[in-house]
Amino acid sequence: MRYKILTPEEAAALIEHDECVGMSGFAHAGALKKIPAAIAAKAKAEHAAGRPYKIKLMTGASTTDLVDKLLSEAEAVSLRMPYQSCPVTRKAIDKGDIAYNDMHLSFMMRAMRHGHIPRVKTAIVEVSEVTDEGELTFTVGMGNSPAFCMLADRIILELNTYHKPELKDIHDIYISHDESGRCLVPLYHEDDRIGTRVLKVDPEKIVGIVPTHSPDGFAAFKESTPETDRIGRNVVQFLENEYRMGRIPEGFLPIQSGVGNVANSVLAALGDSTIIPPVRMYGEVIQDSVVKLMQRGRCSFASGCSLLLSDEMLEEVYQNFDFYRDKFLLRPAEISNNTSVIRRLGVVCMNTAIEADIFGNINSTHFYGSRIMNGIGGSGDFARCSVLTIFTCPSITKRGAISSIVPMVSHTDHTEHDVDVIVTEQGVADLRGKSPRERAEIVIENCAHPDYRPLLRQYLALTPIGHTPHSLTNAFAFQTAFLETGDMRNVNLK
Ligand code: COA
Repeated sequence: MRYKILTPEEAAALIEHDECVGMSGFAHAGALKKIPAAIAAKAKAEHAAGRPYKIKLMTGASTTDLVDKLLSEAEAVSLRMPYQSCPVTRKAIDKGDIAYNDMHLSFMMRAMRHGHIPRVKTAIVEVSEVTDEGELTFTVGMGNSPAFCMLADRIILELNTYHKPELKDIHDIYISHDESGRCLVPLYHEDDRIGTRVLKVDPEKIVGIVPTHSPDGFAAFKESTPETDRIGRNVVQFLENEYRMGRIPEGFLPIQSGVGNVANSVLAALGDSTIIPPVRMYGEVIQDSVVKLMQRGRCSFASGCSLLLSDEMLEEVYQNFDFYRDKFLLRPAEISNNTSVIRRLGVVCMNTAIEADIFGNINSTHFYGSRIMNGIGGSGDFARCSVLTIFTCPSITKRGAISSIVPMVSHTDHTEHDVDVIVTEQGVADLRGKSPRERAEIVIENCAHPDYRPLLRQYLALTPIGHTPHSLTNAFAFQTAFLETGDMRNVNLK
């Protein structure tokens, strides 16, 4: 091989203070295994010597403890984009030690190309194969890796031989060469192949390779609960009804489903439906539950930018790769989340909320108006542009001390104009075509927990006049009651 083999420490030595680094990884999938730890160690050594050392860290989405946690613990990050889900990073963000730009995933690379955000100097990406001609085969997380490699001055590879080079058969790398980003992306069906199996880069840009052999270490999500199962069934009953009424066409529509337990329960319920035909997915993260649907013949195809499978499930896919070869396509995040493609395909999107308000606004990112959880991720790309936008959440959390249905969300990620349907374990609120007052009635009756319905009705009665009848004195009374007393049921409306 023409490339230099580096130790993780040698790779880290190349990364300078204040450098903007683009790392692969879309959740666990494709996240780096070795080099970030060496960068964290370098940061600690530099700090001990009294020198500043922090990098600007760009990824596809969240990563793993081997990346975000280690780098945040070492105080080695000054700017983080576009998404994270790490408790240590969250703390540093809330303290103001890390500047976090939580942005729509689909917008990030366009913003970088246009110079609106820092440009990556070094791309450090995981690959399963590299040729002397500079052809890269990524692994299971595509994310922003292709764009980072194109934009960076230099590339460092983690060559992970655990992952199979055959993965290229499920890769579809499309990079628009129109810098304006206004060019049509020629994708008309979720399974259209519009790009290449490998990314060709200038081999001179590849400054070295760190060999690894390591699975992604992703454990399956927690088991579903009776509550998440009820949410799943409610979503599917709603979709079945839409289908019966002819509001969803014969072959059904492509589905995007967020990550986590609720999303898994929704997909499991879809698998059990005798009314909805086998589904096709057009989203970003492909989870174990999608593979299970494929095994049952209930999902025929899934397009995403990340194969976020447990190690056992990925092993099953590798063992039976011929079965799965034509059932997946992994695309760059700017294509999987491309808003014009989402609109053209007519996606049905289903994501999870932290809070929903009675008028249909959604908070996906913050606790109590100020503390960050993860980020908006791709939920905004899909919420604004899908043909049907569904948000799910349990009606209560923290043993009932918090109602997820509140008068006004303490942070707004998705406005009432983008949200069609809210689903909790209590039921379904179909907000389409309804005025704010009608929406409030239906959200309270169908989605709020019975403990909170009288309190929410009381809130609604406070302001008899107004298109959106908010009481500014009481709008955050529920959240304030929780912060002051530990239980929203103690709310005192004035
Ligand atoms: N106030 C305070 N805490 C709350 C809360 C609220 N309104 N709602 C939930 N929580 C807490 C839960 O109690 C739980 O705490 P614990 O970890 O101490 O048990 C924690 O938040 C996580 O809740 P959970 O219901 O397990 O979350 P989840 O795994 O279903 O994830 C989101 C929900 C919203 C955080 C997650 O879906 C997300 O980050 N979404 C934004 C990005 C996105 O949608 N990506 C998919 C895109 S395409």
